[in-house]
Amino acid sequence: MWSKGKNPYFDLTRLMDFHLGSMHSLSNMSANRPDKSQEKRKVESKEIVIKQSEIFKIDNKKLDNQLKEVFKNRRTSWAFNCNMTKEKLGILLKRAIGITEEDVFGNLKRAYPTAGLMFSINFYIYLSNFGDESIDRKIFKYNPDREELEEVNSLKKGEIDEICSMTKIGEYSFEASNCLFFFTTNFSDLFSRYGQLSYRLSLLETGHACENIQIAASLMGINSVPLGGFYDEKVRELIKSNQEYCLYILALG
Ligand SMILES: Cc1cc2nc3c(=O)[nH]c(=O)nc-3n(C[C@H](O)[C@H](O)[C@H](O)COP(=O)(O)O)c2cc1C
Repeated sequence: MWSKGKNPYFDLTRLMDFHLGSMHSLSNMSANRPDKSQEKRKVESKEIVIKQSEIFKIDNKKLDNQLKEVFKNRRTSWAFNCNMTKEKLGILLKRAIGITEEDVFGNLKRAYPTAGLMFSINFYIYLSNFGDESIDRKIFKYNPDREELEEVNSLKKGEIDEICSMTKIGEYSFEASNCLFFFTTNFSDLFSRYGQLSYRLSLLETGHACENIQIAASLMGINSVPLGGFYDEKVRELIKSNQEYCLYILALG
């Protein structure tokens, strides 16, 4: 039924209030470690009553091994060893999040799926340890359609470690990494079309893009760490954008 007045589903302030309330800062959380306890999962597995053994009897070993190879090395690892070259970075950008085809309507499609073909997620990339002062310790905004990197900021030594508790007050560091992807959105591009649903769509699209990059990186022998816990305002300061909010980070190296 049509209602008079403003429809709350299309009230962007509601979405922004929720997002701002979920932000992580130095004052609201300490350094968190992964929960190593597998107890809850063990209890759940006892409740499975029907085992579909037919499904897991695999004859197509070739296909099985191909897929096994792709996923078995996808691990989170802070053991950065500066394994990336500029060429590997180029391949990663082109193949994991770049253009894959132009459809019959002239739309450019990318390697990751996108809600409503709107490509609402932006990529900011911090680069370091390439032995090239024109890119090292700098943050760029990446445009996959034009394959262009636009410089947005230049960081001081150690500054990148200020973005999360694990590096600011924990025992880890990004100093030996090569690259940090900041996945951002302005929320408003998707909002006019999808209302409150755009919040979910933004997070889902980010996850798709990040997963593509992590899997591609692992195939190239590059270690990576996805980060959901980072200091939102510090990241916004580093990417120098008042309009965009970072949803996820992936560190590589
Ligand atoms: C949404 C999300 C947020 C994460 N945030 C962090 C993080 O802030 N710091 C971190 O060290 N790892 C983070 N991780 C990585 C997990 O710790 C890691 O995936 C988990 O320990 C399982 O290890 P695996 O990725 O090697 O399978 C995150 C993973 C996901 C999916």
